[in-house]
Amino acid sequence: MQLPIYMDNHATTRLDPRVLEAMMPYLTEVYGNAASRSHGFGWAADQAVEKARAQVEKLIGASAREIVFTSGATESDNLAITGAVQGSVQMQGGRGHVITQATEHNAVLDTCRWLEKQGCRVTMLPVDEQGRIRLDDLRLAMDDDKPVLVTILAANNEIGTLQPIDEIGALCHERGAPFHTDAAQAVGKIPIDVNRSNIDLLSISGHKIYGPKGIGALYVRRRNPRVELTEQMHGGGHERGMRSGTLNVPGIVGLGAACEIAGAELEAEAIRVGALRDRLQAKLEAALDRVLVNGSQTHRLPGNLNMTFEHVDSETLMMGLKDVALSSGSACTSAKIEPSHVLRALGLDEQATHSSIRFGLGRFNTEEEVDYVAERLVDVVKKLREISPEYAEFT
Ligand SMILES: Cc1ncc(COP(=O)(O)O)c(C=O)c1O
Repeated sequence: MQLPIYMDNHATTRLDPRVLEAMMPYLTEVYGNAASRSHGFGWAADQAVEKARAQVEKLIGASAREIVFTSGATESDNLAITGAVQGSVQMQGGRGHVITQATEHNAVLDTCRWLEKQGCRVTMLPVDEQGRIRLDDLRLAMDDDKPVLVTILAANNEIGTLQPIDEIGALCHERGAPFHTDAAQAVGKIPIDVNRSNIDLLSISGHKIYGPKGIGALYVRRRNPRVELTEQMHGGGHERGMRSGTLNVPGIVGLGAACEIAGAELEAEAIRVGALRDRLQAKLEAALDRVLVNGSQTHRLPGNLNMTFEHVDSETLMMGLKDVALSSGSACTSAKIEPSHVLRALGLDEQATHSSIRFGLGRFNTEEEVDYVAERLVDVVKKLREISPEYAEFT
């Protein structure tokens, strides 16, 4: 076993060597611009891009030419939400109503906040103690003011909670409201089918699925119904006019390869990674008192475990575990020490949010690593509690 151990697979994942192998020719000898139509260099690049597009489409049950390549899920979320709202406001007038929910990633929350400043109405649905929205809340919000977009993430990046996307999609379809889902954490980890779930727009990120960083995709439904987006990037009219800019061919090839591998291995990997997560959880629960699992234990990503260790400061805990890469919240907000908005939305008080750790297990973790992490963590938690006056009060 090698140290340090990486157990922060919601922040990012290691590039799969098979993905790197697929990318290599496009980082070296096949360097054409996919938009060059007049020579073989361009044709070879274009062919590789179209192969990757089909690989991404297959993983989520999309049809041909429904994938737009972007720089990542942040850009996909921005394009989906702002593009859909601007498109429908232009067509229908009015200021637009967007429905979202409290535990979204900041890529969605900040885009909605920006739209709100532009005059759009935004409804923020609360979640239950497991982190799932209530369908009745969504129904009421839709009845109140017909939305131009419903944006609800598929799987949360901190607590791994899966939203009821089949039911949300069915409701949106019934009411004629476009449904966007940020599936950056869900794609490749749980089965996703855009037709079964009536999804109109779906965000994907390469680096969450053992692909490269700086590449992503947006699924845009072409029929039943066709979704119209206003482009956010103006330029050469690439990607059917929805996302101008020279295509990142090696990144796209990597994303395609990552999707193909994820599709082929999804079922077996979910079982293996889920078993590792359960092993870690069981060991921690057996050895420690006053620990709580945050989120849902029934509707959860296989590799996710988010736990509160009462009377322990999570930053201090991580300092005592220098050879294990973990996270105390979402990586994107960990530059600021603010209580996690996701844990707050579940009803945790501020102190509990500062005692919580996210474990993100993935493809390259082993049972040996899980056992090591559990043992070290139990040891550090016990030591910190020995010097905690609050813990002494409770025991
Ligand atoms: C749910 C979710 N959405 C969006 C993003 C942003 O993805 P990217 O890094 O590809 O922009 C992340 C990554 O942290 C995420 O977990």
